[in-house]
Amino acid sequence: MRVYDLIWKKREGGELTQAEIAFLMKGFVSGQIPDYQMSALCMAIFFQGMSFDECAALTVAMAESGGTVDLSPIPGIKVDKHSTGGVGDKTSLVLLPLVAAAGIPVAKMSGRGLGHTGGTIDKLEAIPGFKTNIPRQEFLAQVSKIGIALVGQTGDLVPADKKLYALRDLTATVESIPLIASSIVSKKLAAGADAVLLDVKYGDGAFMRDYDQALRLATTMVEIGNRAGRRFKAILTGMNQPLGIAVGNSLEVQEAIETLQGTGPSDLTELCLAFGGYMLWLAGQAASPEEGEAIVTRILKSGAGLAKLGQLIHSQGGDPKVIDDPALLPVAPVVHSVVAEAEGWIAQISCREIGLVTMKLGAGREQLHDPIKPDVGIKFYSKLGDCVKPGDRIAEVYAGTREEALIAAAELRKCYRIADKPIHKEPLIKTVI
Ligand code: URA
Repeated sequence: MRVYDLIWKKREGGELTQAEIAFLMKGFVSGQIPDYQMSALCMAIFFQGMSFDECAALTVAMAESGGTVDLSPIPGIKVDKHSTGGVGDKTSLVLLPLVAAAGIPVAKMSGRGLGHTGGTIDKLEAIPGFKTNIPRQEFLAQVSKIGIALVGQTGDLVPADKKLYALRDLTATVESIPLIASSIVSKKLAAGADAVLLDVKYGDGAFMRDYDQALRLATTMVEIGNRAGRRFKAILTGMNQPLGIAVGNSLEVQEAIETLQGTGPSDLTELCLAFGGYMLWLAGQAASPEEGEAIVTRILKSGAGLAKLGQLIHSQGGDPKVIDDPALLPVAPVVHSVVAEAEGWIAQISCREIGLVTMKLGAGREQLHDPIKPDVGIKFYSKLGDCVKPGDRIAEVYAGTREEALIAAAELRKCYRIADKPIHKEPLIKTVI
């Protein structure tokens, strides 16, 4: 096989075989295929797309490029969850303790935030003492013991994705549905779960802004995940405003605790209960997602989800007292209120921009290795469709200095559009695939 011929074939719209794709991935990871040839192939894929067969072959080849996690010693059906990323998305912190409390083993590897979106690992590290890099054996032992462990992705999983993503990032080939789908699904396959629930977000604050594109991504991921012999389900959810009321690491942990106490924002609670229903159903613990949701709702009300979060924090070295006393979480030195300047209904909140304002405050990172601040962020007191009057507090900026707070507040004001009539509100959960 010659790499040149395979690039040519793809460029002309041909379909690569499983053997050809395996050859390409193996050669790329071992360094035998140079970056310039792989870049050309990515560009050919970008323009010509891939069939489901090709995409599934690429996904499996990538998943097998490094180590994989064997969850088989843990009894039961293991269900993973993945979000394509959003602003204020702390779903995992609420949902995973709930499903673990329902008896589903949760062995979860999560990522860090980049750009306008946050990451679960950064949020957990806002809890004093919480360790996210525990060794594999300890990770698995903890799942067996308390039913849940949440750690960062280890370096040995899917090296093909790390190398390929770095290349795509530099060659304008990130935004290709088959390349995104294989990147995400290969990591889920390597992480070892039997079933995966995907939260595919669309809208201004999402990776995929356009609904139809998000739908194509979701359909592709479900198809290739199922072809790889795992059970995949995707839910498309709106990201045209931050999820919940908090954006920023310790603020989001506090909100997750409140949600598990039953006093969280309605959108976050709705999403976690619905996702929990699907995860219970995928795990075979409910006859339908609706029955699963009813079970998860009972667990939330009983406080068992909150207790499970406490166990998780304790087990990973964090201070479980934060569950009862969120004041133990880091708090930013400056808190500055932002008020509405006009009367009317909130018609638009530029969600991506809000993610960037929060990132500039220090809650997120522009580059992969930038340090972050656990205590800064924004709280929202008015959301899409709410009616406001001049002087009403619409948000609060949590900042490191007064100057940073004022800059963020000025940028935040520009994120709002206030209309003179009520707006139509889209449902949070749009489609299930
Ligand atoms: N997230 C991923 O993990 N991979 C992509 O290619 C894009 C988003």
